[in-house]
Amino acid sequence: MKINSTNVTWHNAKVTKTDRQKLNNHKSCVLWLTGLSGAGKSTLAIEVERELYKYGVRSYVLDGDNVRHGLNKDLGFSPDDRKENIRRIGEVAKLFVDSGLVVIASFISPYKADRDLVRSIYPDGDFIEVYVKCLIDICEQRDPKGLYKMARAGKLKDFTGISAPYEEPIEPELVINSANQDINSSVEQVITYLKQHKYIE
Ligand code: PPS
Repeated sequence: MKINSTNVTWHNAKVTKTDRQKLNNHKSCVLWLTGLSGAGKSTLAIEVERELYKYGVRSYVLDGDNVRHGLNKDLGFSPDDRKENIRRIGEVAKLFVDSGLVVIASFISPYKADRDLVRSIYPDGDFIEVYVKCLIDICEQRDPKGLYKMARAGKLKDFTGISAPYEEPIEPELVINSANQDINSSVEQVITYLKQHKYIE
């Protein structure tokens, strides 16, 4: 990447991430939900956020469709645009994690290299990759936004799983088989992981 920001200085704050985590009574991290369109990422993100709220955990959802309405409205779905989309979100989520939140980032993020790049900017343990796994046939049957239908008809190009690739995570921290279990079990799986690894109590 071309770096245009030169002669810039990092300013350290007096209140640290650790201070903020103590105040919140939980650790901060990003749950990075990756998977095909229609796999259930957004549903899981919203329900995990709701459950965390009940636990008194401060969290925030970053979602592909929503972020593309604002911050990333200049980006499309070419490999380069997706890469920039994921890079920016990775940086935004890192700021939110620094602020003490549990961030739930819900993006197709189809390229392994882009996800790995995001992982590399986080301290160990702050980035939790969650593969929301669902067979493409089932995603296509669900087709909640009619996008698969459009892609099959050739009206939508570069559509993930049809005319653009999805590279499965190799060693994600969590795999959620969204087709084989109900949403409550999926939420419980995420919460159990966070408890077992002492992010939350
Ligand atoms: S990516 O690949 O991570 O940059 O994509 P993301 O930012 O998550 O945005 C995915 C949502 O954009 C809609 N959409 C498309 N998805 C995939 N391919 C193409 N060509 C496309 N065009 C529009 C779609 O609603 C995706 O949302 P989800 O929730 O995944 O279905």
